[in-house]
Amino acid sequence: MQDISKRFVEVFGANPEVVAAAPGRVNLIGEHIDYSDGFVLPFAISDTTTVALSRRQDQVIRIASAQKSTEIVETTLAELIPLTGESWARYALGVLWVMKIDTGVDLLIDGRVPLGAGLSSSAALECSIATAVNHLFKKGLSLAELARASQKAENDYVGVPCGIMDQSVSLMAKSGSALLLDCRDLSSENIPFLIAPQGLELLIIDTQAHHKLVDGGYAERRASCERAVAELGITSLRDISVADYAARQSELDPVTYIRGFHAVTEMKRVLDAVDALKANNFSRLGDLLNQSHRSLRDDYTVSCPELNLAVDTALEQGALGARMVGGGFGGSAIALIKSDQVKRCETAIQKAFSDAGFKAPRFFTSLPSDGARVISN
Ligand code: GLA
Repeated sequence: MQDISKRFVEVFGANPEVVAAAPGRVNLIGEHIDYSDGFVLPFAISDTTTVALSRRQDQVIRIASAQKSTEIVETTLAELIPLTGESWARYALGVLWVMKIDTGVDLLIDGRVPLGAGLSSSAALECSIATAVNHLFKKGLSLAELARASQKAENDYVGVPCGIMDQSVSLMAKSGSALLLDCRDLSSENIPFLIAPQGLELLIIDTQAHHKLVDGGYAERRASCERAVAELGITSLRDISVADYAARQSELDPVTYIRGFHAVTEMKRVLDAVDALKANNFSRLGDLLNQSHRSLRDDYTVSCPELNLAVDTALEQGALGARMVGGGFGGSAIALIKSDQVKRCETAIQKAFSDAGFKAPRFFTSLPSDGARVISN
């Protein structure tokens, strides 16, 4: 906090009026169903993006990043136009646009969520700014409204058709818990997720792979789910049971059917995972993670060789369960594994990646952490 304030003074010549932070996330289970009104079960990681913000007397917006020592992006309120702007600053500009601020600002960003690892560094950035703006401009928005605003910034300003999960958990998470989020109305329940006392750890494996399909592939999967809803004449995939969906297979083309099948089965797996957690049944949780991965790999087809190798190797090393997380086509996998097996598992994955000629993976662990907060003003 002191660091960012000090840096703010160096860059902008005065103390910031507010400092706020928001975390990245890992999704335990409930993948690719937030945009189908599903339930998801993510938690916030301890890595955050911190921002420092001050109002200005004029209409100028200046944005600097602690990770980009010299560059300052400068624009004006009038120039906030969706689908334009500097690449790294677009997410920040999108939030300022959507929050309808009425004076210029100076903004410094310190992003500490690993980039490109599928841990939602973009949601952390959006939500930290939304939290700071909400506080400083006395907007009085609820966490759900801030989540919707941050999502709108990403959808409409940046042009990424993401769902609502990442922003919601970045804002609403509670330490020690996973967030059972109803993506239809953004109501939520904190589900205790305390695995260390069970001798377990959740290893995060960043494959460092980024396949080209990331953008088009996501939008295409989303469109398949929308097509299934339209053709079946239902309100959403949330509103049909697995059995009823399967019974109507002949009404859909094969690709649409199988993608919708992932969604309806994943929705059930989330609720089953909550039951498993409430019963401290971690082998059941592990099974559900494995089923989720298979469904994402074989039915939804959003995995990739690097993610599959990470998952398979973790299971060979004794993990109770493992799966890809996030949008897919690269990014991270998670493995639920006994704490004393973590090192061995990391070494095996490292070797498997090197043998396959893949880029070296990175490993993280994180306890479930708190969501966004105002740190000082
Ligand atoms: C990305 C999106 C989320 C969600 C996941 C898949 O992280 O931003 O909204 O759809 O993919 O579960």
